[in-house]
This record gives sequence, C-alpha cells and structure tokens, in this order.
Amino acid sequence: MTSPPPPELTSPEAASSLRTRLTGLGYSERGLAERLGRNALGLPRLFDHRWRERSPTTSALDPLIGLLLMGEETELSELAGLLEPDHIRALEEMRLIEVRGPWAQSHLNLFPCRGLLVATDNALPNPSLNKVSCLFPDSYVLANIVDRAPVDQALDLCTGSGIYALRAASHARAVVGVDISERAIAFSRFNAGFNDIRNVDFQVGDLYAPVAGSTFDLIIANAPFNPEPETPAGLEAPSGSQAAALFSGGRSGEELLSRVIAGLDRHLSPGGVCHLVTLLVHPTQGPDYRERVSQWLEGRLSDFDVLIWAIPWNHFERYKGDEAKTAFLKEHFERFEFGTISIRRRRAKEPIYYHGPPPQTAYPLFDEDGEIKLRIDDQAFAAYQPSAP
Ligand SMILES: C[S@@+](CC[C@H](N)C(=O)[O-])C[C@H]1O[C@@H](n2cnc3c(N)ncnc32)[C@H](O)[C@@H]1O
Repeated sequence: MTSPPPPELTSPEAASSLRTRLTGLGYSERGLAERLGRNALGLPRLFDHRWRERSPTTSALDPLIGLLLMGEETELSELAGLLEPDHIRALEEMRLIEVRGPWAQSHLNLFPCRGLLVATDNALPNPSLNKVSCLFPDSYVLANIVDRAPVDQALDLCTGSGIYALRAASHARAVVGVDISERAIAFSRFNAGFNDIRNVDFQVGDLYAPVAGSTFDLIIANAPFNPEPETPAGLEAPSGSQAAALFSGGRSGEELLSRVIAGLDRHLSPGGVCHLVTLLVHPTQGPDYRERVSQWLEGRLSDFDVLIWAIPWNHFERYKGDEAKTAFLKEHFERFEFGTISIRRRRAKEPIYYHGPPPQTAYPLFDEDGEIKLRIDDQAFAAYQPSAP
C-alpha cells in the first residue's frame, strides 16, 4: 500500500476562507477540549477513537472532529450546516478530504495549535505508510514552551508537519525547517502556505546538512528518541517498518539526540538557545546523563548552560504485551524520564547545569484556551544560576 499523496495548496484565498471558518466554528484547542475532554496536561484528548461512546452529548463540531481528526466517514449533508460548498470543494481540491458520493473522508488529520491549523498523516496505526507525525502531546508542549522573544534566525530539525518552524515564524525573521522525509517536507510546505506563513524555508536533509555553515538564534527539535533494537535511527522508513523509524533513536535511543546536541557548537549563534523535547534514557551501564551531555558537547559542558526539566516516565508500560521489546528495554535501561532539554552558550561566570523536575506549576500544564503555564526563557535559566562565590 502506498501513501496517499500529500495535500497541495491550490488556492491561498480558499485556504484562508476555510481557516477562518474552521476557527470561527471553535475548531481550536478550547473547542476540541470542550467536546473531547482533556488529558492530564490539559490538552484535548485528540486520539480517542471511542470519543462518541465516551461522551454521548454532541456538539456542533462533531462532523468536523469525525472527519478531520478521527478518520470517520462523514455525510456531506452533516457538513453542509458548517461549511459552504466552496469550503468543501477547497478541502477536496487540497486533498485534505476525499469525497465519494454523499460521503467525505480524510486520510489526514488537521490539528489546531495556537491559531495555526496543521495537517499531518492520520494517527491510525498503519505501519506500511510513510507517515508524517501527528501533533502528539509532546509536540504541543514544545510548540508552546519555547520563549517567544524576537530572534533573527530559527531552525527546526526533524520538523515533520513543520509545527515548531511555523510557530517560530511569528517571532523570527527567518526560519528553516529540515526533515529527512520528503513527505514531511511536502506537508510542512503545505502547512506554511495553508497558514499564510512566508518566512519559512523547508528543506529535505539529514539534521544540519542543509544548513551547513549557518548559525541560529533558536534551534528546536523533537528528534526520534525511542530505543529500538532493530530499527536504525534517522532513516527514511523502508516500507513496512516506518512507524518505528519515525520514532527510532536507534538502540540507545540517543543516536539523533546526541547528533543534534553535538551540532550546537557549530550552529548556535553567540546568544542562541536550543530547545529539545525527548525521552531521557538511563542505561543500566555507562556514563550518567550529565557525562553523556558533556561528551556530546565534546567535553565542553562548562561552556554551556543546560536546563533539563524532566519527570519520571514509565516507558516500559508502552510495550506491555510485547515481550521481546520489554526484555530489551529491561536489559539495557534502568529507568526513563520525559522532558525538555534547553542548551545555550554560557552567559555567566558559573555555568548552569540543572536536571530535575520543572518548577511547581499548577497542573494541568495547559489552561482552557490551550495556553501553556510554563516558559523556558532567560528567567527560567536564571533560577538555576549557581550563586557567585
Ligand atoms: C517524532 S517526528 C517529529 C515531528 C514534529 N517535529 C513534531 O514534533 O510533531 C520526528 C521527525 O524526524 C524526522 N527525522 C528522522 N531522522 C531524521 C534525520 N536524520 N534528519 C532530519 N529529520 C529526521 C522524521 O522524518 C520525523 O518527521
């Protein structure tokens, strides 16, 4: 089975009208959470395909949720009260939906994120398709926790749908998004056009390769991080193992993370900062986390400020029922955490190195409008500055 073709921007005007209509109907973090409920972070429960059973009350958004998030066949007559015929035509022409007789269906998902609408492949497992990653909760966290102070140049590595690049476009003069997957770049280019964002350039390539020689004030990445015994990291998926390849960080889980961090000295501008979201692995043997970060920074840890906000993560749970995977993880890893890693060039005499829980923040992390309550900005770093002797 081959992947359906990526979406294509046929008419910017039609895209703009469609976005305005969807947003006006409440197709936003708040609107979706009101219908789907919230997860522990406070985000809408976007991947619950039993949503109709779980909550019998209906909302005017139901046909759109069914069509654009849940992959359901939806009667065109149900959409008629929500969208104009031109909108439905635009959705079809842009390949966001397929229409068959009185039915519409989509092989894509359309996620709202802070006023953007972002197309990805759909969340339904289908390992034989070369998929563009959905906006999972970690995507929402990194898309929102980054400081929005104005910067000149920004880089989003492993961009997927382009979400972090598109968010950065609101406060950076120019943004580059890179992904090894041509399909991801086709989606991210579509998403830029669909959201009328013009200061982002998306390029196919391996991590920093397309931007060799350039420096950035902001680098963002959600590189694949799952420890995978069989699937190499960072390859465009050979068909049949794509689902794992999208998320594989190689056997250690750190093959791409380490390369992203190793590239910082070359690619961070003097005042630049890098934000990553990742699984933090703690192997049963070998150097501890701080030593590994130091190795990746070529032994120059004290030239950088490092702020790691992480919480314990039961990654074993994820493979319950898969005995081989669980045995591999148990043999090689003691424990896991999940969180953000932020690295900038050292600002003060004493370098910052903090690895621990984020500050006491009222959970859920997101408020009812989908606004995050934590930010990684200069103030966040300053809280961990060792006091001068
Ligand atoms: C988990 S997805 C992240 C997508 C998006 N940034 C997000 O967080 O929602 C990881 C992405 O990394 C890409 N990727 C894997 N190896 C890569 C490499 N060596 N260089 C650039 N991109 C890579 C994959 O194609 C995939 O789109």
